[in-house]
Amino acid sequence: MYQDELKKQAAEAALDYVEGGVIGVGTGSTVNHFIAALARICHRIEGAVSSSEASTERLKQHGIPVLDLNAVGELGLYVDGADEANHQLELIKGGGGALTREKIVAAASRRFVCIADESKLVEVLGRFPLPVEVIPMARSFVARELVRLGGTPVWREGFVTDNGNVILDVQGLSIHDPKALEQQINNIPGVVTVGIFALRPADVLILGTQNGPQTIA
Ligand code: A5P
Repeated sequence: MYQDELKKQAAEAALDYVEGGVIGVGTGSTVNHFIAALARICHRIEGAVSSSEASTERLKQHGIPVLDLNAVGELGLYVDGADEANHQLELIKGGGGALTREKIVAAASRRFVCIADESKLVEVLGRFPLPVEVIPMARSFVARELVRLGGTPVWREGFVTDNGNVILDVQGLSIHDPKALEQQINNIPGVVTVGIFALRPADVLILGTQNGPQTIA
């Protein structure tokens, strides 16, 4: 099976976790499959809180009402993809640049179901360059601080986040203590969000595999 079919398989399996109410919806190619699946049962939900302009547009195209997080309070369920996941369900996210809103919606949700193809599961996070969203004026300063932490930051030139900020993709990190590094990078002035999701990891990871969906919880 091709990678995209495995993503679809994981996305379809996530429908089992939809119990109604308002659903938090992430961003990316795996989530796009989830949005298509969710549209089939949209009569069972009140709507969605979106983590990006791209997902908002796609949700609306599928006839799913998009609601403001400020108007709905705590969400029961958040479904999103990941760029890497370890066995503790700690993640690297932000390959699509939507990490800040994704982290907000994940934090506002009781249950976070992560969907991915099996290639995303790793022993140690960090092979995927770690995205860091940064206030534009702090780009060079934050880059120097990330070098001090042992990484090689690369400016995602030409890319602006939904929040008007820039992304540094940090190569060369081997992340053995994701929670500590998440806190450390979050504390650099000018950093809006680091793409490590360890302080609020996923609760469930559904992997699309050649042998069918596999769940780690
Ligand atoms: C978006 O910013 C990311 O966090 C995505 O969730 C992540 O990049 C996964 O994307 P795919 O589902 O396209 O692999």
